[in-house]
Amino acid sequence: MARPLVNIEDLRQLARARTPRPFWSYIESGSFEQLTLAANRRDLDALRLRPRALAGVASRDPGTVMLGQRRRLPVALAPTGLAGQIRGDGEIHGARAAEAAGVPFVLSTVSTCPMEAVRAAVREPFWFQLYVMRDRGVVADLLRRAQATGCTTLVLTVDLAVLAPRLQDERCGMTLRPRLFNAPNVIDFARKPAWLWHRLRSPHRSFGNLAPYATGCRQLHEVSAWVSEQLDPGMSWADLSWVRERWPGQLVVKGVIDPRDARQAVSLGADAIVVSNHGGRQLDGAPSSISALPAVCEAVGDRAAVWFDGGVRSGTDVLKALASGAQAAWLGRPWLYGLAAGGEAGVSHMLQLIARELDVAMALCGLRDLSQVGAEQLWPQA
Ligand code: FNR
Repeated sequence: MARPLVNIEDLRQLARARTPRPFWSYIESGSFEQLTLAANRRDLDALRLRPRALAGVASRDPGTVMLGQRRRLPVALAPTGLAGQIRGDGEIHGARAAEAAGVPFVLSTVSTCPMEAVRAAVREPFWFQLYVMRDRGVVADLLRRAQATGCTTLVLTVDLAVLAPRLQDERCGMTLRPRLFNAPNVIDFARKPAWLWHRLRSPHRSFGNLAPYATGCRQLHEVSAWVSEQLDPGMSWADLSWVRERWPGQLVVKGVIDPRDARQAVSLGADAIVVSNHGGRQLDGAPSSISALPAVCEAVGDRAAVWFDGGVRSGTDVLKALASGAQAAWLGRPWLYGLAAGGEAGVSHMLQLIARELDVAMALCGLRDLSQVGAEQLWPQA
């Protein structure tokens, strides 16, 4: 890396230069007109922090506890599908970097690397994110496999009744039934030799967790078609109860914006809620997650943990989320930028940038540890 990468935007620029067009579109896109994608960033930027003077902040601790476990930073790497397409063995790089930084790694149902391969590469179990498939036998088997890896925390994503179209992905063939080998893409693949090299070195090429169930499907596009048929718009609260009954560990419900949904999820046994609009990739026109966060925190109270994602691009954003009521902020695209820019080292670098920015923001807000964070840290809006 010739030029110093001093913030996440620097990592993003390098990632963009190194990632073939359809996969870059996959990372960056929001749904339809991308209004919610933009709102996530805009509303975080609009928040103001309150600086405090002479607060005696010689020692500072950004550590926290998530579901009973001590973590070195109040962040987690959010589940993102197909990370192994962005860089060969992508989920393994992400899980290793998260482990080194002392934060949770959440493995997507639609990861490229199978969960067993990710588990073999780290000491601590990851958290597993579940999409409930039409075939509940597949879901039951995924839960069995996750438990066999030692996973104790299941993240059930509930905002994907249908997959919202991402228009730029459609333009370049990056859809659930991919058509990647058109002329512009092939020329672009050829211009990204490092990507190709890492990609070819990895044995994992398809949907690592799901491919075993897609019997008769050999190629990525065949497995992909099977996955798209498995999405279940009929999912309801009864399915959350069904999962709760089958999962003995901790249950996190991800993808809640409405306080009523948060309350319902907690009453059915969720241990934590992630306030999220899927990074602006689902309901276009939904509010930003940061603007939805305070009402969800109020609805949940201390009955469950409340976390947040959507638009976090700095440690300062993390502090804004904590001051708005979240106990942790998850990072989606930022870890993919690190991954695409430099594999495991790139993800570690991303986490170091977040840690540095959070530390400076804590010091200048007069905070020694995160138990002191509250709405007081936000400057009132005009
Ligand atoms: C996602 N997200 C996601 N969520 C999930 O529960 N399962 C998944 O497989 C995926 N896949 C996925 C792929 C890509 C490329 C992105 C960008 C996002 C949503 C993700 O977990 C998280 O909610 C958002 O990414 C958070 O917003 P930021 O940090 O990307 O702005």
